[in-house]
Amino acid sequence: MRISIFGLGYVGAVTAGCLSSRGHYVVGVDVHEQKVGDFNNGIAPIVEPGLDELLKSAKEKELLRATTDYADAVKDTELSIICVGTPSAPSGALDLQYVRTVAGQIADAIKAKNSHHHVVLRSTMLPGSTRSIVDEKLKDAVDSGLADIFYYPEFLRESTAVKDFEVPSLAVVGSVDGSRPPENLMNDLFGTYGEQGTPACVVNWNTAEMIKYACNAFHAAKITFANEIGRVGKQLDIDSKVVMHMLCEDKRLNISPYYMRPGNPFGGSCLPKDVRALTDKARTTGVHIPLLENLLSSNERHLQSLLSLIEATGKREAVILGLSFKSNTDDLRESPMVDVAQYLLGHGYDVRIYDPALNLAALVGANKRVIDVRMPHLAKLLQGDIATALGKDGVVIAAQKSSIDDLKPHVTENHHFIDVNGWTELQELPSNYEGFCW
Ligand SMILES: NC(=O)c1ccc[n+]([C@@H]2O[C@H](COP(=O)([O-])OP(=O)(O)OC[C@H]3O[C@@H](n4cnc5c(N)ncnc54)[C@H](O)[C@@H]3O)[C@@H](O)[C@H]2O)c1
Repeated sequence: MRISIFGLGYVGAVTAGCLSSRGHYVVGVDVHEQKVGDFNNGIAPIVEPGLDELLKSAKEKELLRATTDYADAVKDTELSIICVGTPSAPSGALDLQYVRTVAGQIADAIKAKNSHHHVVLRSTMLPGSTRSIVDEKLKDAVDSGLADIFYYPEFLRESTAVKDFEVPSLAVVGSVDGSRPPENLMNDLFGTYGEQGTPACVVNWNTAEMIKYACNAFHAAKITFANEIGRVGKQLDIDSKVVMHMLCEDKRLNISPYYMRPGNPFGGSCLPKDVRALTDKARTTGVHIPLLENLLSSNERHLQSLLSLIEATGKREAVILGLSFKSNTDDLRESPMVDVAQYLLGHGYDVRIYDPALNLAALVGANKRVIDVRMPHLAKLLQGDIATALGKDGVVIAAQKSSIDDLKPHVTENHHFIDVNGWTELQELPSNYEGFCW
């Protein structure tokens, strides 16, 4: 392909070197004369292992040039990639001025060229940014069929950027409506990720933009987490390097997709108790760990947002599917759904509960105390069969999955399901469907 790359900084220079090494013809564009000059001499404008060699070799094969003339670059290529900076404004907001400028320049150049051009935005931008930049700058080109637009976030890390480009940890491409880009772009540009060569994921613009932020926020949370464990460990005379090394040894629960789905607030007999104990220990030894200290309040906020969703339905009958803290257990200790039931009862709702794993007569010990102390009337609320639990109307809080076939015959148009746990089959029912956080 013939590709122009706008912005020859860390992302753009690496992208240019790597794409030209795959045999694509690349025109780099930058406002910075010196960067353009270096590029034209096959010299990397940034320090990045392996990049000098790639640029030198591309130069020798005449697959690479750079210019400050954006119109010339667009005219000479069929696809432009935008890699300019998106710094923080003084308020902390994202400054999109460079992306806007370049998008406007590309739009003008497409109009002058008057033939089809693909535009790929790579700069990191908040959800909604691609939409607003297209509406503001590229609408005519898109409406006249001269341009299609993709958002393709970058996941490379400086210092291993060339290797990361060759085998990305993730490849995600966003199109306007989540439809698959043309096959030649999927193969030649968006490619694959991971050691197994998994094809790039295709989603819509907003989702692709959000994935980049979710990844970076998660990385920041991981670092902060390890650092907080380190601070507590030091105070208790423990080598937290060893602790974190062993934590990473558990590939099933710790380094895995486990616990990585939005849904139920966390609960049960371990997580809340253990987070409380660790943060208390840190406090009493004088170590401040804001990330860990705020886990329970974030969880509490999450529960509050579920209660608001329930109230917003306007229903006065509430059906809770699953009272224990997760499926296939009768453990009620710190179950968020016990809080939900209690809140709804206290606010005058007619509450019905269905939980096939729960046998009140068999509850003992601490688990029984939850019921005796917090919900002495539970026996009256628990329904033995799904039909009675559902009734004919009400907001159904689906906290646990069960059999959709058992549910289906009893659901009416008057039911409003709130899917707390990612049970997508609920969308097939005649009732209203609402995802808790999707
Ligand atoms: N650096 C990273 O490791 C990394 C990783 C992933 C994503 N990102 C994202 O990629 C984007 C680019 O980051 P970067 O680190 O490469 O930025 P950078 O500041 O190194 O490079 C941006 C380049 O754009 C050029 N530029 C500005 N206005 C221009 C215009 N009108 N025409 C042509 N060029 C213009 C600048 O001169 C500069 O060379 C940012 O949104 C960043 O958040 C960066």
